[in-house]
Amino acid sequence: MPISLPDRLLLGPGPSNVHPDVLGAMASPLVGHMDPAFHAVLEEVQSRLRGLFGTTNPMTLPLSTTGSGGMEACFANTVEPGDRVVVGIQGVFGERMAEVARRYGADVTRVESEPGTVLDPEEMAAAIARVEPVVVAFVHAETSTGVCQPVEAIARAGRERGALVVLDCVTSLSGLPLTLDAWGIDAAYSGTQKCLACPPGLSPASFGPRVLERITARTRPVPVWYLDLSLLDGYFGSGDRIYHHTAPVSAVLGLAEALRRVDAEGLEARERRHREASRRLLEGLAPLGFEPLVDAPHRLPMLNAVRLPEAVQPVEAELRNRLLERHGIEVGAGLGKLAGQIWRIGLMGENARPEPVDRLLAALREELA
Ligand SMILES: Cc1ncc(COP(=O)(O)O)c(C=O)c1O
Repeated sequence: MPISLPDRLLLGPGPSNVHPDVLGAMASPLVGHMDPAFHAVLEEVQSRLRGLFGTTNPMTLPLSTTGSGGMEACFANTVEPGDRVVVGIQGVFGERMAEVARRYGADVTRVESEPGTVLDPEEMAAAIARVEPVVVAFVHAETSTGVCQPVEAIARAGRERGALVVLDCVTSLSGLPLTLDAWGIDAAYSGTQKCLACPPGLSPASFGPRVLERITARTRPVPVWYLDLSLLDGYFGSGDRIYHHTAPVSAVLGLAEALRRVDAEGLEARERRHREASRRLLEGLAPLGFEPLVDAPHRLPMLNAVRLPEAVQPVEAELRNRLLERHGIEVGAGLGKLAGQIWRIGLMGENARPEPVDRLLAALREELA
């Protein structure tokens, strides 16, 4: 019996729906991970990722893990026990960064913002000046609250004090322009299942020369063999593609097709499409009593955090279930402090279009009538 799953419109925080061409690429006949034909595809993937991240870093690669593994790679490689790390926390994923850094032995200083607001760059700069950290880390697009964090001032403050700057781009890559090199970001990671519109399973990531220098200067080896960049360099670096672990060939083929689609559309047009879809959604939700959580200048277009009307809050889980069961539409619940108060409606990649928005609005109108 073949596996049979229902058809879903995925308007949660990810995964998002995938174009059939991406699924088709993943179903290509398998080749080996040491086959030159596969290496040519990998080369293309790495080059397209550099374009999307806005970097010339040679060490730009699809890590064989999800977004959380990308986060793990950043801290595993840069932190040694006792190192001071400043983490900006606007929600659940900033919180997760602090926890991951702590597990590698970091002495973590937290700078927090109220849910739905961005980090204050001056507060971050003051903490950086006081603590003199080895690493400064924060989230560009905080999926738990829908805020888009301005990057430049915080990155500059970190760089001026000699810290490595780590940026979570899981939800922003290929939905918003990224310029890692111009911003002064040393390490960044993302995931395939959001705006790239690819199944989950890979973490596109980029590491600059200062991270590689830091690894050479470590007093002890990177504690996670699988994510040690000095070892991954043998396969994903510029050399001979020496075996480290078996690259997930089919997943990389899917990513290659997804990246071709992004580049064919162009990042500017793609960003515009995400913004237009978000505007259409918020305009349609307003008469139903759903209000955006985040002020307009810092609102993410691909992840719309909306406050639920008071009457809906006690029955929000039930309403989400009805959307899924009766209409085949998935939306995301609130996370952490915002659980029960907000929904997170993702319009990512293929779904950042008028039709998915209109389908959700029609279903909601019917359920709330
Ligand atoms: C901002 C952010 N960081 C990290 C992650 C973790 O990624 P994954 O669930 O792919 O491990 C997510 C996932 O939603 C995210 O939105």
